[in-house]
Amino acid sequence: MKTTYQMFVETAVPHNQLIISRTNLQGIITYANETFADISGYSVAELVGQPHNIVRHPDMPKSIFSEVWKTLQNEEIWRGYVKNLRKDGGYYWVYAEISGVYKDNQLIEYKSMRSPIEDEMKITMQNTYDALKKEEEGLCRAVIYLSCDTILKVQKLAIDEKKGEDEVINSILNDTLF
Ligand SMILES: Cc1cc2nc3c(=O)[nH]c(=O)nc-3n(C[C@H](O)[C@H](O)[C@H](O)COP(=O)(O)O)c2cc1C
Repeated sequence: MKTTYQMFVETAVPHNQLIISRTNLQGIITYANETFADISGYSVAELVGQPHNIVRHPDMPKSIFSEVWKTLQNEEIWRGYVKNLRKDGGYYWVYAEISGVYKDNQLIEYKSMRSPIEDEMKITMQNTYDALKKEEEGLCRAVIYLSCDTILKVQKLAIDEKKGEDEVINSILNDTLF
């Protein structure tokens, strides 16, 4: 559970720079450029060897990534807008192109190049992804104040029950409300 306001802090992607990464065929990062490290808040060393979902933002609908992997498995290029999660809980929006890396006609890795997007497009895509998240998972984003004691109890319960904190709150409220 994010108990700080970092989640509302956006990092702007500079217009003259590209965020570049490569992964193996399982999606484990094999290369990250300095720009990717700067924008995501991780060091290059922290990124390499980690699954690319290290920057997955909870606002992103599941279907977008199944589409990414289906496109890549068909050896086509996926192009789209992605909201990514920074190490500090903040976020950044990118336009991404993800495609195969070939050696002797053999698919050996995947690569992704990302560039900045306009503010208007960020709003459009946030609305689009909010609607998909609701449609696919029945989830709506809510920002509420909970007492700090309640948060500690929820965090403890989540660890004890090996559940997500959101899941714990949802099930308690569901049991009480219905
Ligand atoms: C080259 C490449 C780049 C990717 N870039 C991102 C990215 O910037 N952000 C992201 O959330 N997922 C990215 N993905 C997809 C992730 O591998 C992963 O499927 C996604 O984060 C969803 O996580 P999950 O599959 O664990 O649900 C990328 C995949 C590849 C192959």
